[in-house]
Amino acid sequence: MFTALQLLDDVNSYISKLQYNRTPKGLYDPIEYVLSLGGKRIRPVLMLMAYNLYKDDVSTVMSQAVALETYHNYTLLHDDLMDRSDMRRGKATVHKVWNENTAILSGDAMLVLAYQFLTRNTPAHLDEILGLFSQTALEICEGQQFDMEFETRENVTADEYIEMIRLKTAVLLAASLKIGAILAGASTADADALYTFGMQIGIAFQLKDDFLDVYGNPELFGKNIGGDILCNKKTFMLIKALERADEAQRKELLTWISKADYNPLEKIEVVTDLYDKIGIKNVCENKMREHYMQGIASLLEVNLPVEKTLELKNFAEHLMYREM
Ligand code: IPE
Ligand code: IPE
Ligand code: MG
Ligand code: MG
Ligand code: MG
Repeated sequence: MFTALQLLDDVNSYISKLQYNRTPKGLYDPIEYVLSLGGKRIRPVLMLMAYNLYKDDVSTVMSQAVALETYHNYTLLHDDLMDRSDMRRGKATVHKVWNENTAILSGDAMLVLAYQFLTRNTPAHLDEILGLFSQTALEICEGQQFDMEFETRENVTADEYIEMIRLKTAVLLAASLKIGAILAGASTADADALYTFGMQIGIAFQLKDDFLDVYGNPELFGKNIGGDILCNKKTFMLIKALERADEAQRKELLTWISKADYNPLEKIEVVTDLYDKIGIKNVCENKMREHYMQGIASLLEVNLPVEKTLELKNFAEHLMYREM
């Protein structure tokens, strides 16, 4: 069995050798740019780890793993446009280095490339993988649309938020694991347990991403802190803060949410201060832990000796404590 770090090295080395050999450069340079900035590569690594539970020849499914990373990076190009984000992985986003149309079109090309990588060498169970991947890609669009619609709504519930992040983020981690399992010929029960594990840790993962968007160290996180606050994202933290605030605090939060003209740094500072006073850090960490634990329970349902799944458990735990 390989460690997560070994698989990460394999993924990075495969990506660094990719050559598109096509023109115009204006379409492909941004693709190479974003893929060269690193990132955690958790989706391909999860896929390969799931595959490696059953089979050792991971090099034969590297193209499918890179399909997932290419797809993920496509969503980032479009997400950064939608969220007006200027920084990613410590560097300027594609729409800042180039322009908005480039981010749209290079993103579109990456979606197509993802399908090419996924179908390369016609892997076993291709129909099933294509169906799951397409379904997942559609769910991510749905999640992203909810995310945007929630920006202008004040009555988003915690359940609606969880469903939104399940769609925009968690299903891709879940599908990555399940695709790895399917490629390796795992039983349906195992593939489904791995899917549920991925979904639960994916929900915890997005809760942590939202947490780091407020409390992270920008040098490590690689994104501008406070972006979600400026966009009025209905994160679990904001929803719970509104719920738990006293009357004065609630009024202040709502005033900042509805303000059209403000100093961005001031808004981030005031809202963060309110989160601190309301004690939102703890509320968010408890919710993360709840979903992480549910994920681990599903992982234990996989019909393999527990030593086999330990690497996945450790990987999930490491995601919970990450700073990036
Ligand atoms: C960013 O994903 C988008 C979210 C779903 C939070 P990652 O946090 O996996 O970003 P990279 O790929 O490591 O940069
Ligand atoms: C992104 O969520 C989810 C997808 C890209 C589908 P975020 O908007 O929170 O991701 P970051 O923080 O920009 O990476
Ligand atoms: Mg977003
Ligand atoms: Mg974003
Ligand atoms: Mg985020």
